[in-house]
Amino acid sequence: MDHDVLSAFDGTAGELDRADPLAPLRQAFELPKGVVYLDGNSLGPLPKAVPKALAQVIERQWGASLIKSWNDHDWINLPSRVGEKIARLIGAGPGQVICTDSVSVNLFKVLAAALGLSARPAKILSEADNFPSDLYLVEGMNTLLGAAAPAIEVVQTDALLEHLDASVSILLLTQVNFKTGAMHDLAELTARAQAVGALVVWDLSHSAGVLELELDAANVDFAVGCGYKFLNGGPGAPGYVYVASRHQGSVTQPLSGWMGHAEPFAFSEHYEPAPGIKRFLSGTPAILSMTALDAALSVFDGLELAQVRAKSEKLGAYLIHLTDAIDDALELISPRDANQRGSQISFRHPLAYPIVQALIEAGVIGDFRAPDIVRLGFNPLFNSFADIEQAAAVLKTVLMTKAHFEPRLNARKLVT
Ligand SMILES: Cc1ncc(COP(=O)(O)O)c(C=O)c1O
Repeated sequence: MDHDVLSAFDGTAGELDRADPLAPLRQAFELPKGVVYLDGNSLGPLPKAVPKALAQVIERQWGASLIKSWNDHDWINLPSRVGEKIARLIGAGPGQVICTDSVSVNLFKVLAAALGLSARPAKILSEADNFPSDLYLVEGMNTLLGAAAPAIEVVQTDALLEHLDASVSILLLTQVNFKTGAMHDLAELTARAQAVGALVVWDLSHSAGVLELELDAANVDFAVGCGYKFLNGGPGAPGYVYVASRHQGSVTQPLSGWMGHAEPFAFSEHYEPAPGIKRFLSGTPAILSMTALDAALSVFDGLELAQVRAKSEKLGAYLIHLTDAIDDALELISPRDANQRGSQISFRHPLAYPIVQALIEAGVIGDFRAPDIVRLGFNPLFNSFADIEQAAAVLKTVLMTKAHFEPRLNARKLVT
């Protein structure tokens, strides 16, 4: 361990961990011994509260109360209850967030709703570096709408402001870039979009749970986000939709299933949207997955996001500090300024894929993003400064010993 480098920061990893008020929260998660988990930005680890909650719902509710559980255990309102828990994490007042479906499906609903709301000819502005699914959904919407399809302008990130003019009806952005971790100023861009008369749709998949978000204060129109990353809701956990109260009475969405109907059990012939945010539901909620997410969210009870964010900034700074100049070919592509990045640090390297495999073999789990990115995400709820120190040391060792040159590590798996 290089003590000079560590003392040049502001303490050893041990000292930083001892001074960390969030350190005890690590006990709320199942984390395999000997593993440094730096992929909670892709799939959060298992919160200890989840198996118990699931067992209860499976055995006592589904198993014992059968279909009566929809009423007796209020399954029918689970999307709203979980939505309200998420609302606190993203700065949304009551009645504006509902838990449902995947991010991709929710984005389709929200984009269609925004298109229906905007009075001007439809034009969606987004960035080339957006998460591909978000752009694919726009393409899908265009195919569906045929001649009525909105114009799409997908530009480089640094050209966004230049293209944000009165011809744009919807600005569609992901706040934290999945590759680089670079973060947009959500309030600033929302204000600028609205100043030219556009609506904003934010994807908060890499934001919620690790940033201090204030959607209401920023006057955001629409947002979607993910349940299985920093919210730790489990593989394929449902996502969520935020629609500002001011829009709810005037928007509809095209996946007009019975759960979004004003009276699902009237079984009436025609669709009539539920009042409020419930109209963004479509089909039957996935009660087991949503139960897991519900239990996972209990880790946030009583927690101030400001504290979480402050630790995230520090973990990132520490990782940059420990990895600076360890190899000429390893290029930091995340912003050095903590105010401009989310909770991940990414590097570019021509051999990124085998490097990530070598890290994983050595017990440091990060991920690879094509074509050449090593991505290390950290969640202040369970990651320690010791984790960061170990990850940096292993990365250094891999590069120095050329462990990643092992041909076996080049075999691409289906999921990277
Ligand atoms: C920023 C972002 N948006 C959208 C998605 C797609 O989410 P889903 O697969 O839940 O639809 C992801 C998935 O990783 C993502 O990172």
